[in-house]
Amino acid sequence: MASVAQLHPEPAPVVACTVSRDVQNFDLLIEDMETELGESWGDLSFADAMVFFDQPDAAALEFIAVAVDDEDEPNLAQISAVVTAARDKGIRVILIADQMSPAGLHQLLRLGAEDFVPYPLPEGALHDSIERLRRPAPPPATASAVVPETAQPHPTFAAKGDRDGVILPVHGLAGGVGATSFAVNLAWELANSSKTNAPCVCIIDLDLQFGSVATYLDLPRRDQVFEILSDTPSIDSDTFVQSMLTFNDKLHVFTSPADMLPLDFITSDDVGRILAMARANFDFVIVDMPKAIVQWTETVLNAAHVYFALIELDMRSAQNALRLVRALKAENLPHEKLRFALNRAPGFTDLSGKSRVKRLAESLSIEIEVMLPDGGKPVTQSNDHGLPLAENSAKNPLRKEIQKLAKQISDLNKAVETARK
Ligand SMILES: Nc1ncnc2c1ncn2[C@@H]1O[C@H](COP(=O)(O)OP(=O)(O)OP(=O)(O)O)[C@@H](O)[C@H]1O
Ligand SMILES: [Mg+2]
Repeated sequence: MASVAQLHPEPAPVVACTVSRDVQNFDLLIEDMETELGESWGDLSFADAMVFFDQPDAAALEFIAVAVDDEDEPNLAQISAVVTAARDKGIRVILIADQMSPAGLHQLLRLGAEDFVPYPLPEGALHDSIERLRRPAPPPATASAVVPETAQPHPTFAAKGDRDGVILPVHGLAGGVGATSFAVNLAWELANSSKTNAPCVCIIDLDLQFGSVATYLDLPRRDQVFEILSDTPSIDSDTFVQSMLTFNDKLHVFTSPADMLPLDFITSDDVGRILAMARANFDFVIVDMPKAIVQWTETVLNAAHVYFALIELDMRSAQNALRLVRALKAENLPHEKLRFALNRAPGFTDLSGKSRVKRLAESLSIEIEVMLPDGGKPVTQSNDHGLPLAENSAKNPLRKEIQKLAKQISDLNKAVETARK
């Protein structure tokens, strides 16, 4: 490491700096910076950073790693100024945060910090973050697919609070098992389950960090979402519904926020309020859950009518399913609401695959009630185009299975409604 003040005349140009109250508080960051950049980085205090940005040497800076902890909280204004000044000079900002409050984090991310890594740094996290910064911007074709927010259709109906919707959360028990694809397509199929009397459906993305419902439906992430999540007690149903976007006028979508938020940014009470408002205004409420189990998972499980747990036919899914069931049982939570859905399930002719599924279910003492076939490349293509399978690849086997399931759910619901009346 070189101190920025001693850099003249230094052969290796400084391409990055840590900016912190005292970099010695972040020794893992020092190690990682050395691994990534050798000698070509320096460290700055917040005050020095402002001065350095105006010097010619600053032109070589690729990024700064702003490292903050809870003691920096009172000094947020000065740190914000550093982030803003860096952005104005075209210097990228990675935020390294140790015990920072969600509000503080959010402020810095909004001002232009491009990436956020928690401290202590997970293995390889700084490396990945630098890679992300260096990755070229997406090609214009993708960029042009993003419709400006003003062009987005907003809900036209007012919140009446006259419904008693069915809450259907979807939770992937391992990364990338297809939970969001299932949630989005199930929501769309439900919204289209009847030509004459279609139910009112919404999808709520509670994956506050990596939520991709907006991506899969090509919708922007609106600022209102953050405002609602930060202050649910003062939000009424109307404001909530108006914060949603609609997909093809039929499906209402409450996207994840524009910036990544810690999962404990919202409390169980917040989630309870959001679900209550959704339930009162829609017939079906699909909730895309984060992979992690958090404090409010219990709230969602309790509110759910059925809780879809997505797995694949592999060991990590099996072990995670086992752990989840055990954890729910240990806490006396309603594990019987879980409906296991096996994604990329083996086809009819795959006898050995089918016997593996049987063994999996037996060894976990669970029933696997939903089998979702592999839909191949068109699934990812539809997601990338921001379209449900029905709109892009209607004959896809995955679509057909989700369509069938939606029909069953909607018929069952109608039967229950009729019985009630
Ligand atoms: N049945 C399927 N057939 C083919 N491709 C699929 C299928 N299900 C999901 N995929 C693809 O797998 C990838 C992961 O899917 P998806 O984002 O829905 O998973 P996830 O469980 O929500 O992931 P994350 O852990 O990131 O939330 C996507 O590229 C999607 O298009
Ligand atoms: Mg997902």
